[in-house]
Amino acid sequence: MLEKLAEIKSKAIDELSTLSDLRELEAWRVRYLGKKSELTQILRRLASLPLEERKAVSASANEIKAFFETSHRKNKESLKERTYRDLETTVKGEKDVTLPGRPIPLGRLHPTTQMLCKICDIFVALGFQVVEGPEVEWDYYNFEALNIPPDHPARDMFATFWIDAESGQRPMLLRTHTSPMQIRVMERTRPPVRVVVPGKVYRYEATDATHESMFYQIEGLAVDEHTTFSDLKGTLYEFAKRLFGEERRVRFRCDYFPFVEPGVEMAIDCMVCGGSGCRLCSGTGWIEILGAGMVHPDVLRRVDYDPEVYTGFAFGLGLERIPMLMYGIDDIRLFYSNDLRFLRQF
Ligand code: FA5
Repeated sequence: MLEKLAEIKSKAIDELSTLSDLRELEAWRVRYLGKKSELTQILRRLASLPLEERKAVSASANEIKAFFETSHRKNKESLKERTYRDLETTVKGEKDVTLPGRPIPLGRLHPTTQMLCKICDIFVALGFQVVEGPEVEWDYYNFEALNIPPDHPARDMFATFWIDAESGQRPMLLRTHTSPMQIRVMERTRPPVRVVVPGKVYRYEATDATHESMFYQIEGLAVDEHTTFSDLKGTLYEFAKRLFGEERRVRFRCDYFPFVEPGVEMAIDCMVCGGSGCRLCSGTGWIEILGAGMVHPDVLRRVDYDPEVYTGFAFGLGLERIPMLMYGIDDIRLFYSNDLRFLRQF
């Protein structure tokens, strides 16, 4: 039995010197210290040995067991260290403590969000407050309170996603523009009002290079005593200068929206051709960026503002159109297709 123990020990020591990684060391441990190992079997059989032999075998077996355990611990430490060293050498070639750390990839804001913040900052500097509103809206706020009753032809301008309502319930929809917030804001505040409302809007439209079914608008509303059309022009002119640069020219032309009177569209001179006409501006030299006008007296009456005392202006701009113009992006769908090659450019 003692000879057998000496044989096990010498075999284990020989094998130990050939181990090259932690997995092999674990196999060695199982082989020499595990439940089914020869050493464990011998220790289990000690009780059946004659007393004298038992003493000698027990002393030797326990000494070998302690030796195996210490060897296992020491080898584990040194193999661990060697594994880390090897890993470092594989990654860096040679260990060079002067190398800069690996940069942690940083996220960034979506280009639409970046532009939204920029535009809101300009209006905040001009004295406007930023407020937000619901994307699921009542027909009343989206249409009726804005002078667009059922069957009004202006409803055709807004291809609408309707929400199935249970019978007897008021009709609901995904808001087609941010203008319903004009009503919501005026309902809960008294003049002076000066707000901008950024947010998502939805239209049931086929998508193409300039149309998405989900896009962003920024609404503006200012109501006070003596607010005039000059205030509207001055505010939007200042906004265009701050966003597009001092040299940009601005043009207002008549347009129709049932909730303003008079209504206008605002365009800036084309930044590519400078007004002489090119593909971007369809040869006109001008690019339309928003709709605006003086708040209709009927809209003011609906929220209990006296139109004899208060007047106001409102505007609504399509957000994606602005970075498209500024950076020459030729397809609006790029914004929402989650293509990182596009998004990482901003
Ligand atoms: C409106 O939505 C009005 N609520 C704007 C307004 C507000 C007028 C306040 C007067 C007073 P319009 O439907 O033209 O208007 O949309 C405004 C802008 O949204 C457009 O100039 C355009 O830039 C953008 N837009 C409209 N449809 C889409 C679409 N399908 N995809 C992307 N942008 C769009």
